[in-house]
Amino acid sequence: MPQLSRLFIRAALAYLFLGFTFGALILSNKGLPFAPLIWALLPVHIEFMLIGWMTQLALGVAFWILPRRGSNAPRGDERWSLAALILVNLGILAFALAPLVVLSWLQLLARALQTLGLMAFVLGNWQRIYPLKFTNLKDPI
Ligand code: HEM
Repeated sequence: MPQLSRLFIRAALAYLFLGFTFGALILSNKGLPFAPLIWALLPVHIEFMLIGWMTQLALGVAFWILPRRGSNAPRGDERWSLAALILVNLGILAFALAPLVVLSWLQLLARALQTLGLMAFVLGNWQRIYPLKFTNLKDPI
């Protein structure tokens, strides 16, 4: 597994742990209310689970298993995917900090960073989406 995939997947696992913990806190607070402020964690729970965990797991696995091209740059220009890793994670952190610092533009910045990150990933890996042809198979895979 390439190093960049390991970084994506380790970050995804860290967000799974945090998102699950926040979800469990919100759930237990629903059953036995102990701190109304716990509800403030809901947007962060959703962000960590959907972008931090699920999206990053998909990006990490995609970077690993998409067909490779040639031998000198098998995964294309990897700087695009590194940029994706950095931008998506900066976006998650900016989104998580936004409610704490009362800066309304921080959420917008977070979404802009994530969009740029996903675009960088697409640019860096687009050419890796092509059918593999094997002579002993009827259809390409
Ligand atoms: C991949 C896993 C998960 C994803 C994508 C996810 C996503 C979400 C989303 C989108 C909501 C908002 C739902 C709404 O507003 O209608 C939500 C709410 C919630 N989640 Fe999760 N979640 C996940 C796992 C978990 C886990 C493991 C727990 C508990 C341990 C949990 C506890 C909660 C609670 C308590 C709410 C609030 C429900 C309410 O509004 O009454 N979630 N989650």
